[in-house]
Amino acid sequence: MTILPDPSPILLPAPLGGTLVSGVQRPGLDFDPAELAGLPRLELSDRAYADLEMLATGAYSPLTGFLGEGDYLSVIEHLRLANGTPWSIPITLPVGREEAGQYAGRVVLTRQGEAVGTLDVQERFEARKGLEAREVYLTEDAAHPGVAALYAQGDVNLAGPVTLFEVPRGAFPHHHRTPSEVRAVIEARGWRTSVAFQTRNPIHRAHEYLHKVTLELVDGLLLHPLVGQTKGDDVPADTRVKAYEVLLDRYYPQARTLLSVYPAAMRYAGPREAILHALSRRNYGVTHFIVGRDHAGVGNYYGTYDAQEIFSAYTPEELGIRILKFEHTYYCGACGQLVSPRTCPHGSEHHLVLSGTKVREKLRAGEGLPAEFTRPEVAEVLRGAYTAQG
Ligand code: ADX
Repeated sequence: MTILPDPSPILLPAPLGGTLVSGVQRPGLDFDPAELAGLPRLELSDRAYADLEMLATGAYSPLTGFLGEGDYLSVIEHLRLANGTPWSIPITLPVGREEAGQYAGRVVLTRQGEAVGTLDVQERFEARKGLEAREVYLTEDAAHPGVAALYAQGDVNLAGPVTLFEVPRGAFPHHHRTPSEVRAVIEARGWRTSVAFQTRNPIHRAHEYLHKVTLELVDGLLLHPLVGQTKGDDVPADTRVKAYEVLLDRYYPQARTLLSVYPAAMRYAGPREAILHALSRRNYGVTHFIVGRDHAGVGNYYGTYDAQEIFSAYTPEELGIRILKFEHTYYCGACGQLVSPRTCPHGSEHHLVLSGTKVREKLRAGEGLPAEFTRPEVAEVLRGAYTAQG
């Protein structure tokens, strides 16, 4: 018997809020650049520029701009926008108190002095840094990288809708796709179900195991590494992308895998950030999202599975993306394979678990990594990058 392809149309999940926000406005094509003359100019940080792109390409749909005070407080206190839509991390544009007064009406947003977009200032309001730290990051400890960034930023948030002049395809032009571009690939490949994998690390065997277990169940994998700002000791994005390319080329089914970069900055907000990661991946058109151990965590600020449990704050219909939860995965010498506490009966003496710190120590010392932990091809890319750094 021949199994015929399913002729019904591919239905991707609707973006959060129903429509994919589009704020890309090209100078000379969509508006007259002469309109920008004489407007106040605001230089964006790395994080704010990444957020501008996320907003204008619809990755943060239904947001059309930086949050106003009502939404800001509602997100912090209730994990929802003021209209009830799920949202977990305030997307804000902070500026210093002294300069805040100069921004009113339309403002030109710049990077290294070049105009990259606009903000229509609708509100200026005081950031509640203590509250934001406690509720979003669950700590006021300035040693937490997300809290440190929050404390270092300006005290006043500017709010309002934004436009972006051009999608910055930057360092990874071949892998840089907007949500509508990722949606187009998913449709073209006919994936009825697809899973996104967020990562800020090189792909270790444990990650690969999660991908491959999931690929037994869904049609396609969107490998979606975050390439925005990360903390200083994380592996730099260009090294990671090289490692992803090598790995995908040799060990992944090409037609069922898509490597595409996720431009946002890392907040290290653990559970809250897991929600943001999932909601924005829904906007990219995938049906499933992987959340493993200590997702988006740092140090010991969050419990191993807090980032999984927090999703019970919403109904499955509100989320609109299925969360695939995985327990801690590692290699077991007695089983001779990747396992988790759900599948392995052996004691920890059989388990190979290496912390990120240990891995970095080994790399800096020019040592290899066990093949059961990282594939040799990936270890080679990492070692090359670390030894090149000196
Ligand atoms: S994160 O900050 O992007 O979450 P990382 O790149 O390490 O960091 O993790 C990517 C995803 O894989 C997250 O969902 C994380 O929970 C999951 N993960 C990472 N390592 C493991 C592991 N050993 N076992 C189970 N899940 C894991």
